[in-house]
Order: sequence, then C-alpha cells, then structure tokens
Amino acid sequence: MTRSRITGIGFHVPPRVVRNADLEKMMDTSDAWIIERTGIRERHYADPGVGSSALGLEAARRAIADAGRESGDIDFIVYATTTPDYMFPGNGVLLQHELGLGHIGALDVRNACSGFLYALSVADAFVRIGRYRCVLVVGAEVQSTGLDLTTRGRDMAVLFGDGAGAAVVEPCQAPQGILSWALHAEGALAKELWCEAPSSMVPGRVTPEMLEAGRHLPTMNGRQVYKNATTRFPEVIEEVLRDAGHTLEEVALIVPHQANQRIGDAVAARLQVPPEKVFQNIQNYGNTTAASIPIALTEARDAGLVKGGDLIVLAAFGAGFAWAGCAMRW
Ligand code: COA
Repeated sequence: MTRSRITGIGFHVPPRVVRNADLEKMMDTSDAWIIERTGIRERHYADPGVGSSALGLEAARRAIADAGRESGDIDFIVYATTTPDYMFPGNGVLLQHELGLGHIGALDVRNACSGFLYALSVADAFVRIGRYRCVLVVGAEVQSTGLDLTTRGRDMAVLFGDGAGAAVVEPCQAPQGILSWALHAEGALAKELWCEAPSSMVPGRVTPEMLEAGRHLPTMNGRQVYKNATTRFPEVIEEVLRDAGHTLEEVALIVPHQANQRIGDAVAARLQVPPEKVFQNIQNYGNTTAASIPIALTEARDAGLVKGGDLIVLAAFGAGFAWAGCAMRW
C-alpha cells in the first residue's frame, strides 16, 4: 500500500534573541518565574517588517534541500499559520509565488498550535490517494507583534516566540511512513485561548475602544489550557498508537507541540515514559505555535534522536481547543 512519509525537514528562526532578562525590563516578571512555570529561557522575535511568510520561505527552502528536491518538484502547499502576513489571502499563495511555483494549489490551515499536524494530515491524504506526489507542509508564526509586552499581558507575553518549520511529504512503501493520525476539536472552549479582533462582526473590523482594551491581542485562561493540554496530549498519543497497532514501549521519541515544559513533563509522567522520550526545546524558542513541531522534529533528527526505522509520535494541543496526533515510522 502506498503511504506518505516526510522526506525532508527544516526550520528557521529570526536572529534576534529575547532572553527572560530582556522581558524583565519591559514588564513585572522575572527570569526565575518564567523558568519555573514554563521552562523558557529565550525566544526569537522577528524585526518589524518581517512577517511569518518570510520565515516560512526560509524554512521551506531548507526542507526542500533536505529532501534532495528542488522547488519546482513541489506540487501542492499546505500552510499552517495563526499569524499570516495579511487577513487574506493566506501565506500559502505568498509562498507559492516566492518559490516560483506557477499555478500549483496552496491551502491555508489555521488551527493554531495543532495547525502543523492538521496540515500534515491533509498532505498525507492527498499523497495516499495519488493526487499529489511532493507536498510542502509549512508552519510559520510571528507571534511577537501580537503580544502585549507590558505587565498587563505578561501571562501570554513570556510564552510565545517567532519561527517557522517545514516538511516535504512524498509517497513511500511500508514499513516506512505515516501510520495513523487523529484530529480533534472542542469549540465550546474557543474563547479560553483566542484573539477577538479584527472581527467581521465589527464595522471597520476593530474599534478604538477595542484597541484601547487590547481586544486585538491574544488572551488565554492559562489554567484551563494547562488542564486540558495535560489530558488531551496523552489521550491523542495513545489513540494514534492504538490505531497504528503499536505500543508506547515501541516508541523511540514523542515530539509534542512545545507549549510549556511543565506540560511536556506532565505528559511524560501521565504516560509513564522517561522524560527524555518526550523531546523538548521550548527552553530556546518559547511557544512558536504551528512552527513548534517541525522545529522540534528537525532539532531532534539533527541530534540523532530520530533515526531511520524509528517509531515516533507527534502530538499537539492549542487554541480551538484543537488537538491532534500522528504516528509514523521514520
Ligand atoms: N511573570 C510573573 N508573574 C506572572 C506572570 C509573569 N509572566 N504571569 C502571571 N503572573 C502571576 C499572576 O498574575 C498570578 O499572580 P497572583 O497570584 O498575584 O494573582 C501568579 O503569577 C500565578 O498565576 P497563575 O496563572 O496561577 O500561574 P500558573 O501557575 O497557572 O502559570 C501559566 C501560568 C500561563 C504558565 C500556566 O497556566 C500555563 O502554562 N498554562 C498553559 C499555557 C499555554 O501553554 N498556552 C499555550 C497553549 S498552546
């Protein structure tokens, strides 16, 4: 049976590093608080004028080179971002143009932190039905321009960073390839982690009052997110393994969306796997939303933690709430 697999991965983060000590100068927070509650030590911020599409372009180029392909080989794009350059059109078409890809299709996905896995599932389905043969999947975000970098926004501001990751998905034969995936959502909790404006319900999309109140910036109920994340991550990891006919003992590495080191540690504890089986690099990047899984996967692979033939599981949880998992044989 034809399967799909990731044949190339890559990532790119903007060069400007923002350490916890830099945030201490902008808001009432401390390096100690941030490290204790989140594990984050530093993150990268894009400079003004650099959007998520520019970061995604660089990540895409690296993934294409890693796959041993050329841009012209790509026949479809699935692009996950919560922070596109424009309200419309999406980043997918911008990337299609930048890569000089003529008239190939480009689909945008906006499932926030689960965006990369939702996008990967679409690529997998298209490749398996034989419709496309070389799909580029991108997750890219510039969160920094949407953060309230004052004490008012400190709960969100310390968590997020900018970055992009990408993967090339192509056909393969068993035993390699994507074995199973699961996509879930719970819209009843949409407003627990959301950004209200710009809104189509509002004439002019945003009012001066909304701007004054910061309603154009993301907000969250941190405890609600934490509670749900620590339940949904283990659930979906076990689900995709069950569907694939495998067990946790066979898994070489779990690569979760990087939301918070405490969440990653709690997931390892709930699954009763050693902490080193759950890859975490949030210390250096913060939460980069749709970009975090491809960034983490690239670093894990480059560190030799993901090798040919390994069974690995990717998992995500975030705004929506939406969560997802994917089991694959590397
Ligand atoms: N620096 C210092 N103090 C901060 C702070 C910051 N950056 N952010 C919040 N605080 C304060 C709060 O105001 C509160 O003060 P109070 O006790 O005087 O009211 C105190 O710290 C504790 O806040 P609380 O929200 O109870 O902390 P917490 O232990 O729940 O940790 C999070 C907060 C955000 C780290 C935690 O809830 C979390 O990780 N949630 C998940 C977030 C997430 O992953 N979001 C993205 C999902 S994809």
